[in-house]
Amino acid sequence: MKAAVCYQPGQPLRLEELELEPPQQREVQVRLGAAGVCHSDLHVLDGTLPAPLPAVLGHEGAGIVTAVGEGVHTVHPGDHVVLLWRSSCGQCAYCAGGQPALCPQAAQIRQTGRLLDGTSRFRRGTEEIRHFLGVSAFATEVVLPETGVVPVPADLPWPVAALLGCAVITGVGAVLHAGRVRPGDRVAIIGAGGVGLSAIQGSVLAGAAQVVAVDLQPHRLAAARRLGATQVVNASSGDVVAAVRELTNGGADCAIEAVGRPETMRQAFDMTRPGGTVVIVGMAAPQTTFPVPALELVRQDKTIRGSIYGSARPRSDIPRLIALYRAGRLDLAALLGQTYKLEEINEAFSALAAGQGLRSVVLFA
Ligand SMILES: NC(=O)c1ccc[n+]([C@@H]2O[C@H](COP(=O)([O-])OP(=O)(O)OC[C@H]3O[C@@H](n4cnc5c(N)ncnc54)[C@H](O)[C@@H]3O)[C@@H](O)[C@H]2O)c1
Ligand SMILES: [Zn+2]
Ligand SMILES: [Zn+2]
Repeated sequence: MKAAVCYQPGQPLRLEELELEPPQQREVQVRLGAAGVCHSDLHVLDGTLPAPLPAVLGHEGAGIVTAVGEGVHTVHPGDHVVLLWRSSCGQCAYCAGGQPALCPQAAQIRQTGRLLDGTSRFRRGTEEIRHFLGVSAFATEVVLPETGVVPVPADLPWPVAALLGCAVITGVGAVLHAGRVRPGDRVAIIGAGGVGLSAIQGSVLAGAAQVVAVDLQPHRLAAARRLGATQVVNASSGDVVAAVRELTNGGADCAIEAVGRPETMRQAFDMTRPGGTVVIVGMAAPQTTFPVPALELVRQDKTIRGSIYGSARPRSDIPRLIALYRAGRLDLAALLGQTYKLEEINEAFSALAAGQGLRSVVLFA
């Protein structure tokens, strides 16, 4: 099989032939249909986020099950599946409590770059190649835990299915689960990439009266308008916080940060009204902090929370998102940008780094 391997941050991905070991106990093998190009992969490539390397990158994918290991009962060869970058055991207190993204199983996979038995299925000669977030979607075939896939209808277009696995569940979930946006709310969203544009659609679904999108790129702001933003603010000039506060008549009920920078996190705090909620979705380097004015936090009774994987329950949320897509209430096609071949993966990352286009997708033949 072929895969795009990251050996070291700052170097382009290398497209290589790897050996893939067959699925072991409670693992499944999937042939990729499509893989989205998310900024979290770019964070690893540019050294912002640490990951065990060398690894096959990619974490937003969908494909078809080609083989299953012993003890797999929930999916069968031929099933179409969305890949989850936070798989969950279903048994622990977090899983039972409805927060599967916090399952220790996911942390173990992320930190080791290996599957649950502590080994990797990818090899290049004698060299071990790691799994990125237990998904590694920039590969023609992958092996992952049975708990890391969700079956989806076979008629769903591959790029749409892939985006459900990260951008869509993250952005929509940040609004519905983490922000708890209610009908009539005024929402501000900083960053109108794959995640932010999904958050805009989530805000529309929640019945927000006002959705203000903030970005640096005019074409992203145009997409934001198409997807339901009522106003847009170009952050490349002027006082973004003042602009959003004025548009929302004193501040947003909920501000979502979908960039991953301390400046924009602080902006999200400052553009939220007293009593409002700030949801941080963007990922920053591990040592990054952002300053919060302590007295204002208290006096203005604000809430700041993070949201990982949309604070979602993928097994129930993904079918609901598909139902909304089919009902024409979630425009997943409108999130899609250019498609690339796996061989062109480094071009897709250059475009992402430059903020070009919309959500790029690698399409497998
Ligand atoms: N919490 C999670 O579970 C989760 C999941 C997926 C992605 N993420 C993170 O979310 C962030 C967004 O991911 P994405 O794939 O949508 O990225 P993206 O590159 O597609 O979009 C980011 C957008 O932010 C805009 N931007 C950059 N600087 C800005 C500024 N100063 N002010 C306003 N806008 C600015 C860019 O123009 C771009 O449109 C990344 O940090 C990513 O790692 C988090
Ligand atoms: Zn992602
Ligand atoms: Zn668990």
